[in-house]
Amino acid sequence: MARMKPRVFSAMQPTSDSLQLGNYLGALVEWVKLQDTHDAIYGVVDLHALTVAPDPAVLRERTRRTAAQFLAAGVDPERSTVFVQSHVAEHTQLAWLLSTFTGMGEAGRMTQFKDKSAKVGESGTNVGLFTYPVLMAADILLYDTNVVPVGEDQRQHLELSRDLAERLNTRLGDGSVVVPEPHIVKETAKIYDLQDPTRKMSKSFSSPKGLIEILDDPKKVAKNIKSAATDSGTVVSFDREEKPGVSNLLTIYSALTGRTVEDIVAEYEGKMYGHLKVDLADVVVEYLTPVHERAMDWIESPDKLDGVLADGASKARGMARPTLERLYDRVGLIAPQLQG
Ligand code: TYM
Repeated sequence: MARMKPRVFSAMQPTSDSLQLGNYLGALVEWVKLQDTHDAIYGVVDLHALTVAPDPAVLRERTRRTAAQFLAAGVDPERSTVFVQSHVAEHTQLAWLLSTFTGMGEAGRMTQFKDKSAKVGESGTNVGLFTYPVLMAADILLYDTNVVPVGEDQRQHLELSRDLAERLNTRLGDGSVVVPEPHIVKETAKIYDLQDPTRKMSKSFSSPKGLIEILDDPKKVAKNIKSAATDSGTVVSFDREEKPGVSNLLTIYSALTGRTVEDIVAEYEGKMYGHLKVDLADVVVEYLTPVHERAMDWIESPDKLDGVLADGASKARGMARPTLERLYDRVGLIAPQLQG
């Protein structure tokens, strides 16, 4: 398992036509940075998306669009492995193995499962939704991952991945798998809904006006920011408890410009919330326009995009196979006789 660089793995679900700003600031920006120092693997987890029963044509389209947005944001397929989860069968093979190490109770404690199953009710809840975090642990452990850059909402899933890794090492022997570390950047770990700044911005839960979508019409992006819910009072200052709306806007402003929140607050001394919103709308539109354009270039070249994903799948399989074989052997499965 000796490698020159530590390994980073992360992934996103293809569950909407466009990623939202939370996906971008909470995760994708870090993915791009980590490519410089890590051996990076980034996936579009289409098997996870099946848990919400998407329309087949829509799922296919969204899988490509999601990959296109990784590349548009600066994930470099020359340096990183970019692939689609279902192209690498080892993910589901390892997930089965891990499910036999996962307690019903610990899977049932996952808050995302509780929220999502509450939303659709018991009759709409499939077993895949329940075992979702086990497949996620397989994604991570399959590549002997050291670091997993994600937003705050994935922290509990990552804890489960770590617990499973430690359990495997205890039961199957040291060196069975690498125990992954979360990489969660405090400032941008949770970007909030523009209309309800006490909830996270989310593809599945936010209203259209609460979201900033990377591939949206810039005019709509600007409009959403200008109509963001702000708090009573007029002074622009950062206070998560008392001023969640303004604090969220300041976080986004700071993340996109690289300026500190203090610096931005000082600039708006004596000015109204409206000034901040108008300026932030310009900042966001200016930032997203080139990303949007690059993503559309990839989306309009599906053959080229599929080529990148095919290369990525072949590299990913090469890394995944040895891990799966090692674990199959350790749990006592007989290695198949190789032909030829
Ligand atoms: P997904 O597709 O919901 O979200 C992708 C990434 O975006 C982050 N994120 C946010 N960050 C900050 N503020 C927000 N409002 C916000 N909304 C989303 C998420 O934390 C995530 O990093 N289960 C995962 C996908 C997955 C995965 C994996 C991730 C499957 N296997 C292995 C890492 C490693 C998910 O549904 O992410």
